[in-house]
Amino acid sequence: MNTKQTDLTYIVNTYGRFDVALQKGSGATYTDEDGKQYIDFGSGIAVNTFGTCDAEWVAAVTAQMNQMGHVSNLYYSAPQAKLAQMLCEKTGMKKVFFGNSGAEANECALKIARKYGEATGRSTIVTLKSSFHGRTIATLAATGQDKFHEHFGPFPRGFRYITPGNKEELTSVLTSGQVCGILMEVVQGEGGVNVLDKTYVQLAARLCQENDVLFMIDEVQTGNGRTGKLYGYMHYDVQPDVFTTAKGLAGGLPMGACLIGEKAEQVLAKGDHGSTFGGNPICAAGAVNVLSRLTDDLLTQVTAKGEYIRKELEGHPGVKGITGLGLMLGITTEKPNGQIAAECLSDGLLVLTAKDKVRLLPPLNISFDELKQGIAILKKNL
Ligand SMILES: Cc1ncc(COP(=O)(O)O)c(C=O)c1O
Repeated sequence: MNTKQTDLTYIVNTYGRFDVALQKGSGATYTDEDGKQYIDFGSGIAVNTFGTCDAEWVAAVTAQMNQMGHVSNLYYSAPQAKLAQMLCEKTGMKKVFFGNSGAEANECALKIARKYGEATGRSTIVTLKSSFHGRTIATLAATGQDKFHEHFGPFPRGFRYITPGNKEELTSVLTSGQVCGILMEVVQGEGGVNVLDKTYVQLAARLCQENDVLFMIDEVQTGNGRTGKLYGYMHYDVQPDVFTTAKGLAGGLPMGACLIGEKAEQVLAKGDHGSTFGGNPICAAGAVNVLSRLTDDLLTQVTAKGEYIRKELEGHPGVKGITGLGLMLGITTEKPNGQIAAECLSDGLLVLTAKDKVRLLPPLNISFDELKQGIAILKKNL
């Protein structure tokens, strides 16, 4: 059996896979099992911050593996401590909890909000329609899309979904006296690369402050340089009480983090939460490498590359509109996005979709040469 047949025989059929088995890669270029090459505009869904097999990142991770592999959270370990310090110093947050994924990072945020509201009897967590927060039962409940609420109920209660941009609704919900936290993505990724309005996000932050509600941002997809700022909320001149991140944090290794600001830094106490693998030295070493390379210069390049893609595609036949920030872009197209993605694949370009859009999330250090090659393929198939 080839890879595809073995996969289809033995792996639970939860993914709509593209018809290709990738075998190796370097940077933003992959090779499949038949030797065909692909430019990567997806980064493993915003994970491979510096592409695949980035030499500096591989060296950092390998050095840690050769020094010490997994240790449990019963002991202190330097990479985890160093990473937490870097995250806090770069964001003004006070404490970090490490997990293994975006869903786990959000699970932690939800627990913090519930415990924060406990003393005042407030347990409602507000999220936005079209959001996506993960696949665990609680993060599915937090996800504001009906289709994710099929089949797996009963879900935990206490979630309320509001319409992004509707300030009256936001105000009435956050002043209701029932809410302990609000969780939002500043650019909704899976929901269609929808950029939230600045005044809306700022109003949410102010109302949270005035009503003792935790202002929580899901930076799982928008984080770690993806939008041209270190974290997406930094475009909005707001400071979250809690934010979560994962995906690109460790540059290709599974890691999630929940960062907690002053207002909630004391909420979780010993025994309240935990994770076997969370923050393990190997993933932490990968993340330390990634974070140390997300310099202002790199972030400026992310913005420039995003603008370059926009300029190339805006007004191109078949393009109805472009949304997003930095290297997180959604293209509304005349042709069905699934057809475009399939045609790009057969021409050697990996792109993603989100709702009805073609979604681009290339590695942050993709070369202009690779960008040009990829855009030429995309343009041909739009
Ligand atoms: C904004 C957001 N939150 C949470 C998640 C869930 O992350 P994970 O798949 O790592 O659990 C995702 C994944 O796409 C996401 O985009």
